[in-house]
Amino acid sequence: MPTEIQAAVCRTVGEPLEIESVELDDPAPDEVRVGVVGSGLCHSDLHVIDGSLPAPLPVVLGHEVAGVVLEVGSQIQGIDVGDHVVAGISAHCGSCRCCAAGKTWLCERRFSPGLRSETQPKIRAGDATIGGIGGLSGFAEQMVLHRSAAVPIDPEMPLDRAALIGCAVVTGVGTVINAARVRPGETCAVIGCGGVGLNVVQGARLAGAERIIAVDLQASKLELAGRFGATDFVNAGGGDPVEAVLGLTGGRGVDHAFEVIGLKSTSEQALSMASDGGAAYLIGVLPPGLALEVPGTEFVLGNKTLCGVRMGSSNMASDFPYFVELYQQGRLLIDELVAERITLAQVNEGYDKMRIGDQARSVITFDPPN
Ligand SMILES: NC(=O)c1ccc[n+]([C@@H]2O[C@H](COP(=O)([O-])OP(=O)(O)OC[C@H]3O[C@@H](n4cnc5c(N)ncnc54)[C@H](O)[C@@H]3O)[C@@H](O)[C@H]2O)c1
Ligand SMILES: [Zn+2]
Ligand SMILES: [Zn+2]
Repeated sequence: MPTEIQAAVCRTVGEPLEIESVELDDPAPDEVRVGVVGSGLCHSDLHVIDGSLPAPLPVVLGHEVAGVVLEVGSQIQGIDVGDHVVAGISAHCGSCRCCAAGKTWLCERRFSPGLRSETQPKIRAGDATIGGIGGLSGFAEQMVLHRSAAVPIDPEMPLDRAALIGCAVVTGVGTVINAARVRPGETCAVIGCGGVGLNVVQGARLAGAERIIAVDLQASKLELAGRFGATDFVNAGGGDPVEAVLGLTGGRGVDHAFEVIGLKSTSEQALSMASDGGAAYLIGVLPPGLALEVPGTEFVLGNKTLCGVRMGSSNMASDFPYFVELYQQGRLLIDELVAERITLAQVNEGYDKMRIGDQARSVITFDPPN
C-alpha cells in the first residue's frame, strides 16, 4: 500500500518548489523506508532548480538527510525499524569493479544499485511519476532508498545535525582526508566557504594543516571559516584572490587548493593557487559542457595535479559513523553550520537565502516519528 506524504516537488526550472501530497511506494526487498527528521539544503539541488545542472523533472530533491527507519524490505539484514540513519547519494551494488576495489562512491550501478532500476519510480502523483536525486528524495516527510544508502548511526546523535553528514560534511572533510590526504604542516586554500567549503576548512584543521586560507565574497562566511579553523582570510571581492594567496605564501602557492563553488573562474584560480608539486581539487559542480582552461607549461613543469572529487571519495558505511564520533567528541563542528531550522513549506525561502549567500545551511526539520 503506497503511503501518502507531503513533498516539495520541482516541476519547472526556475520556479519555486511546490508543496504537494504525493504517493510513496512500499520499499522493494532491498530498500528501506525512512521517516525524515532533518533535510539540509545543498547547493547541488539549487543547481537543479536554477537549471545549471539539468535533471529529469518533476523531481523531489533533497539529498542531505537523516531520519528513522520505518519499514525494511524483505531481504534487509543489519538494519531494523527504529534505527537512526544518515542517508547519502552513494548507493552501491557492492560487486561491480569499483565497489570491489573499495570505491563505492563510483559504483558503476550507482543509479540502479539493487532490484529497482533508476527508471522505476518510487513516487507518484495521480498517474504521473516523480523522480528523486541520487536515489534520495529528502524534501519530503518520508523517503524510500536502497539499503546501501542508509547508514545506521548512534541514536544519541541529533538527527537535524546528522543530516549534514550526508553531503556537506562527507564531501568537505572527506575530500581532505580521502582524496587530498592532507598531511600535518601542509598548506591549503579553500575557495568558497559555504556548507561544503566550511567542511573542507575543518577537514584541513583536523588533518593538521599549517595554513588554511579561506576565500569567499562574503565577510560573514570568512568569519565562520575562522571558527572552523581557517588561519588566513581573503575577500575575493577585494582584488585578485590568486595574488592574495601567492602573497600569503611567499609566492609559492599552497600544497592543496580546493574549489567549492562550481565556477570556471574559481576552478582556474584553484589551479593557479597550487604550488609546484601541489594540487587543485574541484568539488563545485560545473555546468555540463563547460570546459576549463589549464595553462599547459605551468601545469607540466610545475608538476601539478588537477583532481575532481565526487562525494569526498568516501565509503559512507565507515566514514559516517566516524564523523558522528568526531562530532560527539567536540572535534567536528556541525551545530555552527546550521543557520536556521525551517519547515518543508519554507524550502523556497531557504534557497533564496542560499542565492544571497551570507549564511551556511538551512535545515528542514520534521518531528521524529513515534
Ligand atoms: N563534488 C561533490 O560531490 C559535491 C557534493 C556537494 C556539493 N557539491 C557542490 O559544491 C558547491 C558548493 O556547495 P555548497 O552547498 O557549499 O554551496 P553554498 O552556496 O553554501 O556555498 C558557496 C560559497 O561560495 C561563495 N562564492 C560564490 N562565488 C564566489 C566567488 N566568485 N569567489 C569566492 N567565493 C564565492 C559564496 O559566498 C558561498 O559562501 C556546489 O557547486 C555544489 O553543487 C559538490
Ligand atoms: Zn549536496
Ligand atoms: Zn558497484
